[in-house]
Amino acid sequence: MLTHDLVADRSFFGGLAVQPADALLGLIGLYRADDRPGKMDLGVGMFRDDLGRTPVMRAVKAAEAQLVETQATKSYLGAEGDVRFAELLAEVAFGTGSDRLTGVQTPGGTGALRLGAELIARSRPGATVWIGTPTWPNHAPIFRDAGLAIQTHRFFDVASAAIDFDAMVEDLGEAQAGDVLLLHGCCHNPTGAGFTGAQWWDIARLCESRGLLPFIDLAYQGLGDGLEADAAAMRALLKALPEAVIAYSCDKNFGLYRERVGALWVQSASTEPVRGNLLALARSIWSMPPDHGAAVVRLVLEDPALRADWAAELDAMRARINGLRAALAASHPRLETIAGQRGMFALLPLGPDAVEALRREHGIYMAGNGRINIAGLTLENIPAFIVGVAPYLS
Ligand SMILES: Cc1ncc(COP(=O)(O)O)c(C=O)c1O
Repeated sequence: MLTHDLVADRSFFGGLAVQPADALLGLIGLYRADDRPGKMDLGVGMFRDDLGRTPVMRAVKAAEAQLVETQATKSYLGAEGDVRFAELLAEVAFGTGSDRLTGVQTPGGTGALRLGAELIARSRPGATVWIGTPTWPNHAPIFRDAGLAIQTHRFFDVASAAIDFDAMVEDLGEAQAGDVLLLHGCCHNPTGAGFTGAQWWDIARLCESRGLLPFIDLAYQGLGDGLEADAAAMRALLKALPEAVIAYSCDKNFGLYRERVGALWVQSASTEPVRGNLLALARSIWSMPPDHGAAVVRLVLEDPALRADWAAELDAMRARINGLRAALAASHPRLETIAGQRGMFALLPLGPDAVEALRREHGIYMAGNGRINIAGLTLENIPAFIVGVAPYLS
């Protein structure tokens, strides 16, 4: 008879290391259990209204109702998902069509990033991806799990709360032809810091001269300066360079988070091999993406009235975030740079001890690296927030 130990030794899964729990999701539980009335949830990255809610957008609700009424079948779509969704979304992202772009629907921006990473790994096994620090914590695991190598370059200087562009360019001096450069298209997570137009041109020239492939993560179009303005840098890069990869998320700008709506586009001279490989990869990973959210986005973008209402609500969301940015910046000299940054996030110069103390003593919940979701604040509670953080802002 086998002893228990022997069974454990032979366990198929015995070699797996225990994984740390997701710190941000852990924060949700702690926040819920906190019964202090003035508590602030600045952790998880979702838009919130004045009442702290993450509402279903009006146009999305209307499109969902329409879908329930009119959808006649749930039969399979292909690996590319909803083709019309991708066409309509391409207009939002790129303005005009391009015969150099190939796009497919993906499960969220995460799925788009992973599919793009898999395509690169298939084309150039073991290629190196350059990632600025800090970045969204899921970036490195997505590329690493697809078999790519990660190199980091300096990006944001926490002390001055600004991009250190010279340091970034210096670090990228080490990049080799065939490497990939990951870029946030707008609304950088976690810093909110964006490149100037001149810096974007320098990046385009750098990619061209060193033979780097730009991989643009556009997860927040419309939440920075507007739908057109937020896509401008990406569009300029696509014009300037022959090849690029774009991972797009509709989960924030349509408020569809759990529905998992996104798309991946690849710009290349010959689109057919790219398309065939994208579909083959999608087929072996998720077969086909979930339909509901993409069908909703299609309905919204197809209908002029719904589209206008979506754009108006998105404008209001952005105005709320930028109003809070201005108010925060005016509240403390150390937070002044927040006014000029964009998107839902700001990275405060707070160590883990300060983050922990703010949670314990003031009921202010934020990510362990000092990232706050600005949309979690209100004009009313900013003074209380400042009272909490001011002692820790040197
Ligand atoms: C920079 C960035 N890229 C991609 C994503 C992925 O978004 P999705 O929820 O659509 O997978 C996020 C989500 O937080 C993000 O912040």
